[in-house]
Amino acid sequence: MKNILLVDDDKDLSVSLANLFDTGKYKFDFLEDGLEVGEYVRDHEDVDLVMLDVNLPSLSGLDVLKQIKQIKSNLPVIIISGFVSTENAIEAMREGAFEYLTKPFEIEKLIEMVNKACGYSSEAKKMSLKIKPEGKTESGIDEIVGNSPEIVEIAKLIGQVATTDASVLIFGESGTGKELVARAIHRNSNRRHNAFLSVNCAALPETLLESELFGHEKGAFTGAYFKRIGKFEQADKGTLFLDEIGDMSMLTQSKLLRVLQEKQFERVGGNESINVNVRIIAATNKSLVNCMKEGSFRVDLFYRLKVVSVYIPPLRERRGDIPLLADRFIEKYSGELSHPVKKVSKKAMQMLMKYNWPGNVRELENNIHTAMVMTKSESLMPEDFPLFAENKKIDIDTDVLKEDYTETFKKIIDPVMPKLIASSPGQIYQFLESAFERALIASCLKHFNGNQVKTSETLGISRNTLRDRISRYNIY
Ligand SMILES: Nc1ncnc2c1ncn2[C@@H]1O[C@H](COP(=O)(O)OP(=O)(O)OP(=O)(O)O)[C@@H](O)[C@H]1O
Ligand SMILES: [Mg+2]
Repeated sequence: MKNILLVDDDKDLSVSLANLFDTGKYKFDFLEDGLEVGEYVRDHEDVDLVMLDVNLPSLSGLDVLKQIKQIKSNLPVIIISGFVSTENAIEAMREGAFEYLTKPFEIEKLIEMVNKACGYSSEAKKMSLKIKPEGKTESGIDEIVGNSPEIVEIAKLIGQVATTDASVLIFGESGTGKELVARAIHRNSNRRHNAFLSVNCAALPETLLESELFGHEKGAFTGAYFKRIGKFEQADKGTLFLDEIGDMSMLTQSKLLRVLQEKQFERVGGNESINVNVRIIAATNKSLVNCMKEGSFRVDLFYRLKVVSVYIPPLRERRGDIPLLADRFIEKYSGELSHPVKKVSKKAMQMLMKYNWPGNVRELENNIHTAMVMTKSESLMPEDFPLFAENKKIDIDTDVLKEDYTETFKKIIDPVMPKLIASSPGQIYQFLESAFERALIASCLKHFNGNQVKTSETLGISRNTLRDRISRYNIY
């Protein structure tokens, strides 16, 4: 018989769980508040597992977790949360939780976890139980936003590795949040009060990168007028983030390898050995495996760097994160606008969910930001997103064009007529006529690479008229 303590103020959940695990192998005890948990654990030496809700009436489940770990460090604790918070997931794992689970549970996973925590071999049973999710994610600066299973796994991994000194290699496409993850690891580590410095290895040529990383002595090379302290020295006792590591030259790679192995290096042009204690987090959007095959990345360095590796899947493979991310970006930028923007309209959200996001979260963020500036309403509409507007091509039937342009132009004018009437009454004729003239001349000039003779002949206007229109409309 295994003794499980469930701490949750949700009575329905307690009853459901007790029923679910009523197999004769488990005995449940319940507490509704975190205050008495410490005492309970002290008094009940036979407790095998604690399941803790994060949101408890007077004490947070994460604080209770810390208490339990002080009293009995090897007692497994499963943290249960009503909603996904990556910050909570990170903290739970960092503080030694056995697992972090979110409601609604997948029953099989829950049973497997409980069995594992209690030292039973896994034997998931098919039982049905409905547990409703509640609440919303709390906001925090630089928080990793998302509630897809992929993001939760990443958050848990961050929590597990944060307090170690292990090198971490983060890989994923551009804009997936690699730097965000690196910062979260640092922020949750024991090094958090020391520096987090970042070096983009792709941005600098080899010699400059070396002096950026290791510093140089005065006179080390032409132009080295002063001694320079490199990022490795500046990041002592902190974390150094090496971005785009796949672009580092072989020579710099071998120098980096030496720092990782011996924890010491010399400034460029110097011979004094400098000792440092720096944690390395590296990131790349290239496949280092391919780089190694091609011979442009050292195998030994690869293994040094990827003691732990974190893969961030592209946004199109975790579209479930899009609504939460969109909400977060609206919250982030609403302060800088003069008009209120509250949400993404249903229609626009459908389009955001469908789009492929080659630039990943960064592209989503930029698009939300632009749409917020463009919009006239409190909800973002599809037409507020240039992304979707650009795809709206006017289809022009070129056969019709030869004989009559009317239908084509009507296609352009009809949809904008109500807006024109509202915005420029009394000027529409002049406005459209000059816009047409300008577009026609610009297009023909472009076709003839700016050749004015050919343009005027082709259009059938005099060169004087052409010159006049070019200067009137500022056509380049
Ligand atoms: N899960 C997320 N939650 C909130 N913001 C995110 C998330 N992922 C990415 N972002 C935001 O998207 C932008 C890009 O993220 P970041 O710079 O970390 O990506 P990256 O993978 O390092 O990109 P690159 O390869 O182009 O350097 C940042 O503004 C970041 O805050
Ligand atoms: Mg980056």
